[in-house]
Amino acid sequence: MKIQRAAVVGAGTMGSGIAQVLSQSGIEVILKDVSPEFVQSGLDKIKAMYASRVKKEVLTEKEAEFLFSHIKGTTSYDDFKQVDLVIEAALEQIEAKKEIFGQLDKICPPQAILATNTSALSISEIAAHTKRPDKIVGMHFFNPAQTMKLVEVIPGLNTSQETVETALELCRNWKKTPVRVDECPGFLVNRLLFPYLNEALYALQDGAASIFQIDEQVVKLGMPMGPFALFDMTGIDVCAHVNQFLYREYGPRFEPAKLIELMSEAGCYGQKKGAGFYLHLKGAPVKSDSPKQENPELAKLVANAAKASAKPEKSLPFDAYRVILPMFNEAIYALQEHVVESCDVDVAMQYGCGMSKGLLTLAEEKGFAWILNQLDTYHAAYGERFRPAWLLRKLVRAGMHDFSQCKQASKKEKVAVR
Ligand SMILES: NC(=O)c1ccc[n+]([C@@H]2O[C@H](COP(=O)([O-])OP(=O)(O)OC[C@H]3O[C@@H](n4cnc5c(N)ncnc54)[C@H](O)[C@@H]3O)[C@@H](O)[C@H]2O)c1
Repeated sequence: MKIQRAAVVGAGTMGSGIAQVLSQSGIEVILKDVSPEFVQSGLDKIKAMYASRVKKEVLTEKEAEFLFSHIKGTTSYDDFKQVDLVIEAALEQIEAKKEIFGQLDKICPPQAILATNTSALSISEIAAHTKRPDKIVGMHFFNPAQTMKLVEVIPGLNTSQETVETALELCRNWKKTPVRVDECPGFLVNRLLFPYLNEALYALQDGAASIFQIDEQVVKLGMPMGPFALFDMTGIDVCAHVNQFLYREYGPRFEPAKLIELMSEAGCYGQKKGAGFYLHLKGAPVKSDSPKQENPELAKLVANAAKASAKPEKSLPFDAYRVILPMFNEAIYALQEHVVESCDVDVAMQYGCGMSKGLLTLAEEKGFAWILNQLDTYHAAYGERFRPAWLLRKLVRAGMHDFSQCKQASKKEKVAVR
């Protein structure tokens, strides 16, 4: 399907980045928001992004002007009558998305694909509010959308194979790396990332290691930054919300550490508030190499979190694998549910999280038997967060050493780009 005209709903952080991505590939884009000020602010952001490309000599001024001229701002749906594709990047609230998709369904041509950039909401639920569930798909871009390569393409229960193929093909045309993920809470990247972030909190509140030790050791294993630097960058309030959501959906292995609740209550949200786990210049970007200072409030919050939480059965000496293991384990849970193919896990974690090495490649190097043994040991000490996925036990019993040997982990047709 050839996409000539597209629309983006929401001109905020993600919508403006997505509109730029589309305009760069020569697509005419309508950028819609609720007020002329929001539309203008989105257009200004895109203009600034193009200006920085000119400054870096990636584009000439003329080229940037030409590409920018592909985007037209609006506050109405009038111009949506001729679009081939809509990507919605408005509020992360199901009622707002249902209302938007209901309107889009009425106005857009019947063949148009309607995609949502939701981080977590149900694609099937959004689709149920339209008369074209076969044409509704999740296209989850990562922030900043104009530079991050990964897009999770998420079919809902009734999304057609044709829509999925078109979404994957479009991403490739936009020089993105798409990964197909079946609908599940957190999709793939957030589903894997949050057990890791959560375990870092537990390690800290158990007194196993300091934020500096945990961050430093995890970076040595190939993460682009440590979990506490990432918490501060993303916003601890946002992380607390996602953690709770995943806990409700998946149960005990996602039980949030008490510390995140106390951090949120204390208003220690991270970089945007000037203090999270570390102290920051308010609003200044977190740089991985800048010297860091621990938030002086943290020790008290950690002590209170420890007091309010059950003591672990046993305390094991800290090893950075303690926080990486829940991520391995969750990847294997996702494979046993056929949410994703094994080869796509590495692609997603490298392009979506900046891991220097694929997560499953790392697991294969350590060996499945070693991982199972570690998970069993941590499970005995720290409980349900470490209960091994049964597929892992099967892999070990079958004497397998890599995921490509396992049909169960790669049942689906391969659709992702490599
Ligand atoms: N920020 C991220 O890191 C990130 C990453 C991936 C996905 N997402 C998802 O992308 C979506 C947008 O997030 P964001 O960070 O860009 O939010 P944002 O708050 O920066 O922007 C949202 C914009 O949508 C506008 N809007 C609200 N209702 C609208 C409507 N009915 N019609 C048109 N515009 C409307 C708002 O005025 C605002 O300008 C959310 O669903 C979010 O979960 C965010």
